[in-house]
Amino acid sequence: MVNFLIFGPPGSGKGTQSVRLAEKFNLVHLSTGDMLRAEITAGTDLGKKMSSIMATGELVPDEVVIEMIAAKIDKTKDSAGFLFDGFPRTVGQTIELEKMLGERGMKIDLMLVLDVEHDELVKRLIARAELSGRPDDKDTVVVENRISVYKSKTEPIINYCREKRLYQPVNGMGTIDDIFIRLSDHMKKFV
Ligand code: AP5
Ligand code: MG
Repeated sequence: MVNFLIFGPPGSGKGTQSVRLAEKFNLVHLSTGDMLRAEITAGTDLGKKMSSIMATGELVPDEVVIEMIAAKIDKTKDSAGFLFDGFPRTVGQTIELEKMLGERGMKIDLMLVLDVEHDELVKRLIARAELSGRPDDKDTVVVENRISVYKSKTEPIINYCREKRLYQPVNGMGTIDDIFIRLSDHMKKFV
């Protein structure tokens, strides 16, 4: 099993690239954002509780996403590995993920970080708001808050992973196809 983290600020292209990369490398794509939105759509109690937090662009509590990921890891068999998208989001979640994988004889193999300029992030998210219906894309204040939450709470994971020699920055500017090739080239070395 080989396990990748795909990282980057909101709008950097994590979801877009993950779908294609998961198919190419036979990986299971695990997006905590998608899982949380599925809870909201299904009208579960958890979804109801989390939707107000997500609408402001703040993070939901660590234990909520850790539990979701653990359940998925145990349900999944027969894949080449996992592609974690939008998880972990805090150093605490990273430590928990390492623990979870370690207990199952796995580890994080590589962290790919998409670097995208701030104005491009905002442009992509505002453009998506028209189609996605995501409440957190509609309001520029929320979009900016998501970017600043990424900087304060999520970016510290980069240093944590750099020390473990897992950090691989990737230019996230340009066409979807070009970025896909850049990411694939790094991942090829591991699968
Ligand atoms: P989440 O769903 O993870 O959202 P996000 O990190 O804000 O990221 P996005 O999904 O908006 O961006 P993306 O990088 O996936 O880009 P995409 O490919 O879609 O999280 C949502 C919320 O859930 C969080 O705010 C938090 O509340 C909660 N949450 C989730 N996980 C959590 C966790 N682990 N812990 C705590 N809370 C958690 O692309 C964006 C747009 O750009 C698309 O329209 C796409 O078509 C377009 N695009 C992509 N690439 C390009 C390109 N190269 N050129 C032009 N357009 C492009
Ligand atoms: Mg996404």
